[in-house]
Amino acid sequence: MAGERVLIFDTTLRDGEQSPGISLNTAEKLEIAHQLARLGVDVIEAGFPIASPGDFEAVQAIAREVEGPVIAGLARAHTADVERAAAAVRDAARPRVHTFISTSDIHIEHQLRSTREDVKGQARAAVAHAKSLVDDVEFSPMDATRADVEFTAEVLQIALDEGATTINIPDTVGYAMPHEYAAFLARLYELVPDLRNAVLSVHCHDDLGLAVANSFAGVQAGARQVECAINGIGERAGNASLEEIVMLLHTRAADVGLQTGVNTREIARTSRLVSRLTGYPVQPNKAIVGRNAFAHESGIHQDGVLKERSTYEIMDATTVGLEGNDIVLGKHSGRHALKQALEDLGLEIDGHALNQAFKRFKDIADKKKQVTAMDLEALVTDELREELRAYTLEWFEVAAASRRPPHARVGVKTPEGEVVQGDFTGDGPVDAVFRAINAATGRDARLREFRVDSVTGGQDALGEASVVLEVAGMSASGQGVSTDVIEAAALAYVRALSNADLRGRRRAAEADAVAAATELSATP
Ligand code: KIV
Ligand code: ZN
Repeated sequence: MAGERVLIFDTTLRDGEQSPGISLNTAEKLEIAHQLARLGVDVIEAGFPIASPGDFEAVQAIAREVEGPVIAGLARAHTADVERAAAAVRDAARPRVHTFISTSDIHIEHQLRSTREDVKGQARAAVAHAKSLVDDVEFSPMDATRADVEFTAEVLQIALDEGATTINIPDTVGYAMPHEYAAFLARLYELVPDLRNAVLSVHCHDDLGLAVANSFAGVQAGARQVECAINGIGERAGNASLEEIVMLLHTRAADVGLQTGVNTREIARTSRLVSRLTGYPVQPNKAIVGRNAFAHESGIHQDGVLKERSTYEIMDATTVGLEGNDIVLGKHSGRHALKQALEDLGLEIDGHALNQAFKRFKDIADKKKQVTAMDLEALVTDELREELRAYTLEWFEVAAASRRPPHARVGVKTPEGEVVQGDFTGDGPVDAVFRAINAATGRDARLREFRVDSVTGGQDALGEASVVLEVAGMSASGQGVSTDVIEAAALAYVRALSNADLRGRRRAAEADAVAAATELSATP
């Protein structure tokens, strides 16, 4: 049943990327953005261009390369932010500037140290300025759900008068309950009749686990854009999870009467890609994309499903792309077969990246009889990370036995191209390798989390390791894939160190940008 359309605004690369420990480089952001376009989202919020030169570059690259969705850049209600965001998205076929300012007194008094009058002035100036640079302008009154609804309505009227085409109502701190959020939107419609001529949008955080419920309540109250993120990543407890809200509207379409433009079969792959590149694992029981979301454990359930799936399944796993991919390559498959298989997966790679992927594929196919679609995905995602790496694992050796402590030696190439060596006797072989890497690089990194998963089932499965480190007060994650779990762990560790460096450089650039903006705003 075709119903009215709800626009899906994906903020994985902006709000999602603000999650602690996530630091994506431009190539990784581009890969995610291309996949979001394949998924069929309507809007990609590609980043916060004023935040750093790296953020600007990534938003600009996405605007230039990714076809299909509207590409949005975020901007505070400051002239410099709006200009930077508009410049970053300028080359998109459909550029959008999304500008925001808080309307809650808590934020106005304590964070902005300002007044309601000033907020109105800033909102007016920012929307007007954005509108002079792009047609498509979105405005958000930040922390709206804790703000006075009458004052928020006044600010929204100003934004609409200045030409905002989408009005987004953030539940910034995840405080609202569904009935309250719906009532807030209903009251805004009463106070601002012009809202009916704009797209009303919802942006809910998950601090109380209500992000999807609140978003759904908002949609039922008339919102036609949902801001959400893959795997629900985002500030603190995260944003509404894209896969959950989309599958809710899809599965209950007959009752709700609404639809999205998302190709649901791309959901599982998008979730895996985001999880791999961000280093944020998906909990096994996560709705829609968790490993167990379609698994039946109890005998009674298994019995029912074997007799008739609908006894215990409300969705089909193939609808979200969790099953039904039969690509299998072996050690005799050539470069052409690999390229074709990757294209079937929607992954277009050529030149150096294809050569590298082919080399990795051959190494793996030598050790593993069958290389499946899931293996290829893991492999290509792993190859992507080669580009902007600061450190590279050159080699490692581990001696492990049950009667003496394990000893590891490693060679690591530094960002300057020098191969440095280190060794360590640790508690276990993985611990010895990690500490040998610290010894080689001279970095004082502390291991916060370490996981190894297998990409597929079977004894010869690829191992996928994930590491979270704390380096100089910052957390950073890294992942590695190999048939050898110690190698996968070492690759992940070295990448986490590289990401920590990248984060450090970005923080420094952000501090410079904030200092420059402060100087600008101090100038009369
Ligand atoms: O949560 C929030 O308020 C935001 C705004 C920038 C829209 O992310
Ligand atoms: Zn947010």
